[in-house]
Amino acid sequence: MSASVPAGLTELLKGYTLEVLRRRPADLLEFAVLYFTRLREQRSSSRRSPVTRGEAFDRSSSGDGEEEEEEEEEDDFPDDFTFKAPPPSKCNRRVSVCAEAYNPDEDEDEGDEPTVVHPKTDAQRQRLQEACRDILLFKTLEQDQFSEVLDSMFEVLVQPSECIISQGDDGDNFYVIERGVFEILIQKDGVSRCVGRYDHKGSFGELALMYNTPRAATIRAAQEGALWALDRATFHRLIVKNNAKKRKMYESFIESVPLLKSLQLSERLKIVDVVGMKTFSDGERIIRQGDSADCFYIVESGEVKIMIRSKTQAGQRSQEEVEVARCSRGQYFGELALVTNKPRAASVYAAGETRCLEARRKCWLEFSERYQPLPLQHES
Ligand code: CMP
Repeated sequence: MSASVPAGLTELLKGYTLEVLRRRPADLLEFAVLYFTRLREQRSSSRRSPVTRGEAFDRSSSGDGEEEEEEEEEDDFPDDFTFKAPPPSKCNRRVSVCAEAYNPDEDEDEGDEPTVVHPKTDAQRQRLQEACRDILLFKTLEQDQFSEVLDSMFEVLVQPSECIISQGDDGDNFYVIERGVFEILIQKDGVSRCVGRYDHKGSFGELALMYNTPRAATIRAAQEGALWALDRATFHRLIVKNNAKKRKMYESFIESVPLLKSLQLSERLKIVDVVGMKTFSDGERIIRQGDSADCFYIVESGEVKIMIRSKTQAGQRSQEEVEVARCSRGQYFGELALVTNKPRAASVYAAGETRCLEARRKCWLEFSERYQPLPLQHES
């Protein structure tokens, strides 16, 4: 009997072990059946996809040779591949997903579903982490949820002119851009127009998954590029469900904020999708004067003190801070630096335990036109 370890076995068991450690299932055997079944389903779909197979298979050694007969159709895969947890294909599109109406309350057992881990080299994980750093939808995830998302993402390399998403299709994956330029095309009255482009950063494909609608635009690669994809099921479980919970928690508060009163309900809900709630202890500094800014806050409970270090006659900043204002429930702060695009003009401290809604710069810019009567302008 040969003592050599079959190619791919270590990776396969590593993915399973990681999931066991993360989820701590009561029944290891049952969990293994679920995990490997899901992995096999994904492999079946990716094997039918020529586009992603380079990501799904290594050429380094021989396969195990006992895969399902249905897979036997001759394709142009190399005979000598090694199995790695394969990504679901972006080409093998699901049908009729729009029929699945999303109801977070019916999803209770989704939490026990294992996440399929797509193993990554250290370099890949670093590139992925960098690409995801500013993705708004990920900003409010807890640390362990975020690393689960990273584990589940898989790399997709694209060629010039390749369509990653086609308007009208059902949604399969959410994509984060690592590199490349991508055009956004919208067809209306039979005419297709380019309405914008992503330039080496950003993400797309969230709308169809979040709102269970057909793809709202076509996304086409203008050049060779690299994306990271998150499959629909994992996106639902980790992002949509998380946001649905947040909505429940924040909806009534958001409705009570005067600043957001003029927004439509659907717009208010979209705000919830991109904000997070933070708790600060008494005296904790929330904003430091002079820092650069990328978010603003709305007080949910408690109070904050706004303090300024004024300039001395010699033009130096004095060390002493003077209280200039306080904000309580429903009032916002931290927006000025976003509007003026200058450093923070004051420091802000919690006065007693305080909870604040934190919204990123993008959220402010998207909705700022409606924040009447504040004299707002977009960043250049
Ligand atoms: P989705 O509808 O899932 O797929 C197409 C994606 O294009 C969409 O999600 C958005 O992420 C992105 N997109 C960018 N600009 C627009 C736009 N103006 N209208 C619709 N979708 C857009």
